[in-house]
Amino acid sequence: MNPSSPPNFSSLSITIIILINSISLVVGAKESPEGRIPHLEQNCLAKHTDNPKNQTTLLRRGSAEWWDCTAEVLEMARRPEMVRWIKGIRRRIHENPELAFEEIETSRLIRDELDKLEIPYRFPMAKTGVRATVGTGGPPFVAIRADMDALPIQEAVEWEHKSKVAGKMHACGHDAHVAMLLGAAKILKARHHLLKSVRQELTGEKEVGRTVFSLIAANREISFPLLPLQFPDGTRSPSEAVGDVGCCQPCTIGGTVVLVFQPAEEAGNGAKGMIGDGALEDAEAIFAVHVSHQHPTGVIGSRPGPLLAGCGFFRAVISGKQGLAGDPHRTIDPVLAASAAVISLQGIVSREANPLDSQVIVEQARVFRCSAAVDFFEKESTIYPPTVNDEQMYEHVRKVAVDVVGAENFRVVPPMMGAEDFSFYSEVVPAAFFYIGIRNETLGSTHSGHSPHFMIDEDALPIGAAMHAAIAERYLCEH
Ligand SMILES: *[C@@H]1O[C@H](CO)[C@@H](O)[C@H](O)[C@H]1NC(C)=O
Ligand SMILES: *[C@@H]1O[C@H](CO)[C@@H](O)[C@H](O)[C@H]1NC(C)=O
Ligand SMILES: [Zn+2]
Ligand SMILES: [Zn+2]
Repeated sequence: MNPSSPPNFSSLSITIIILINSISLVVGAKESPEGRIPHLEQNCLAKHTDNPKNQTTLLRRGSAEWWDCTAEVLEMARRPEMVRWIKGIRRRIHENPELAFEEIETSRLIRDELDKLEIPYRFPMAKTGVRATVGTGGPPFVAIRADMDALPIQEAVEWEHKSKVAGKMHACGHDAHVAMLLGAAKILKARHHLLKSVRQELTGEKEVGRTVFSLIAANREISFPLLPLQFPDGTRSPSEAVGDVGCCQPCTIGGTVVLVFQPAEEAGNGAKGMIGDGALEDAEAIFAVHVSHQHPTGVIGSRPGPLLAGCGFFRAVISGKQGLAGDPHRTIDPVLAASAAVISLQGIVSREANPLDSQVIVEQARVFRCSAAVDFFEKESTIYPPTVNDEQMYEHVRKVAVDVVGAENFRVVPPMMGAEDFSFYSEVVPAAFFYIGIRNETLGSTHSGHSPHFMIDEDALPIGAAMHAAIAERYLCEH
């Protein structure tokens, strides 16, 4: 997220530069109902006792009742070696912060880890960006995004993994975003492999190619064996292999998760560049998380509709008519017109006018017999649209969060100022943006983003990884 500073310029006419930082308010946006508290063990028991002998059940895509792998995903995310790995990634990136479009080493680290996980990717996109895919390679496609860039800020936190680059710091938590998305990649990849075994068993084929998967995906129906199950080659059922929780219905086989690692969120053109280079190709929906010092560690927050402000600058040049101070009736005073325009702009948010509508200024100028030209700097700097959460995608995040962190740890948050270039994706496909709390008074992670004292409670990282993995798998299962 980035509050930026206005560009410099001079003009002989009266010039107003205004940082547009407003939120389009939606009147009557509904608060979502309280989510149910998950009873994983009970669900599990019920499913297994229903018909324990029936080894094959038909799973129909679009049925909301089926994905119940939360416990497995969380268990994987919380394993000590996984936690160490995710934290290690975040610390390596934190020590070597790179500014917008300069994320060379960060991008290399991401690709190295993807290589180790045998996850294919496209590179470069938008200079340093990476687009990786986990899954069948067939539809549906669901995307999750992380940003990679740091800020030109000198870190003031003294700790073992403090930034080693003078004047640069991950003060917005994008290092954590990358670590959480790589964590999700690792979880998804492990589960994808196991899911493949299930399909092989079911179809009786040694090698199951893309065609089979695609066909099934197209039919939106997936068959799978009920667990537990022993495969002929000695591998065990997914549930047993990932932690023996024993109630996971793996229905994500027919789909692909797109992992988007983008440059330059703070400079704003990263998301645009990624979209231009095809990051959203085939994607039906996209999700992203941002760390937040406003919520305790592991708390998830979001809201339907407008979540974050748009951001941009405009210059209005209001021209009057020069004259003698002793002859004011022969002049046209642009100062008066400009003042009136500024007052009118105050009313934009409450009147729900589009903040990018230049008519407000032009009309005010005309009242005072001045002319006005409005320039939104569309070439020089980036105007961020507001981040608006799609209602259904928000609801998806809410359901997943309630299962992953519990209803008591999910919050419907108020809309906030500050802009996010995630909004560019949300203009293309249905999207939802959410927060994960990193606030911990004991550790001192209470400072806002872009502060030199910013730090995070790393215990949020595995939870964020589990959220991403669960959001993606459940999306593929239910859509
Ligand atoms: C197993 O379950 C499926 C789906 O519920 C059903 O169509 C099928 O008849 C069942 N088979 C047996 C042997 O019970
Ligand atoms: C804050 O961090 C400390 C040390 O890691 C931990 O013991 C404590 O549980 C954390 N508190 C919260 C609210 O997460
Ligand atoms: Zn930021
Ligand atoms: Zn940010």
